[in-house]
Amino acid sequence: MEWIFFPLDGSVNRDNFDCGIPELNEYLQKYARQNHRKGIAITFIAISETASRNVADYYSVSMAEIRRESLPENYRRGLPRYPLPAMRIAQLAVDITMQGRGLGKELLMQCFKKAVRLSSEVGIFAVTVDAFDKEAKAFYLRYGLIPLEDNTLSLFIPMRTILNVLP
Ligand SMILES: CC(C)(COP(=O)(O)OP(=O)(O)OC[C@H]1O[C@@H](n2cnc3c(N)ncnc32)[C@H](O)[C@@H]1OP(=O)(O)O)[C@@H](O)C(=O)NCCC(=O)NCCS
Repeated sequence: MEWIFFPLDGSVNRDNFDCGIPELNEYLQKYARQNHRKGIAITFIAISETASRNVADYYSVSMAEIRRESLPENYRRGLPRYPLPAMRIAQLAVDITMQGRGLGKELLMQCFKKAVRLSSEVGIFAVTVDAFDKEAKAFYLRYGLIPLEDNTLSLFIPMRTILNVLP
């Protein structure tokens, strides 16, 4: 199946979206557009090229800071003592009917590529994400994200790692 990715707008149907986590469904249905408009978090969605205009998946990104003390000891060396700039993946979810087809990985890679583009214009030390639960954390661990010290569900990946692995 081919997918079209674009910034969230009013042309799609969000009502039926169900990723299995009510909070993430509710975010897309109730808050994503207003946060997008207000510049708080930008949401990108995908719909199928051929099927209906139902949202198949989405992710939201915004900027964030990572406290130096949150980083594992071996990542702290040589860094300033003030908070470090980061891009946060605030939400990332795939509709249950579309899970297991590589869309989650595709969304994460899109986020990494976005961070690479931004990092040529503005300082970004890392990409960070707050996993919803342990299962979501397991997904991010697969792709090289590293747990932060002070929150068992928050992870990060340094930009230099992303730049090394992305073409
Ligand atoms: C987690 C989630 C985004 C994965 O999306 P998906 O489209 O099913 O994942 P993909 O098909 O791209 O899977 C890519 C790889 O990750 C693995 N994977 C998927 N979910 C995983 C999980 N929870 N833990 C560990 N690995 C996982 C797949 O087995 C696959 O491995 P493979 O490449 O060796 O086959 C999706 O299950 C989801 O939306 N869950 C509910 C919301 C959620 O937890 N979001 C996370 C952010 S809070």
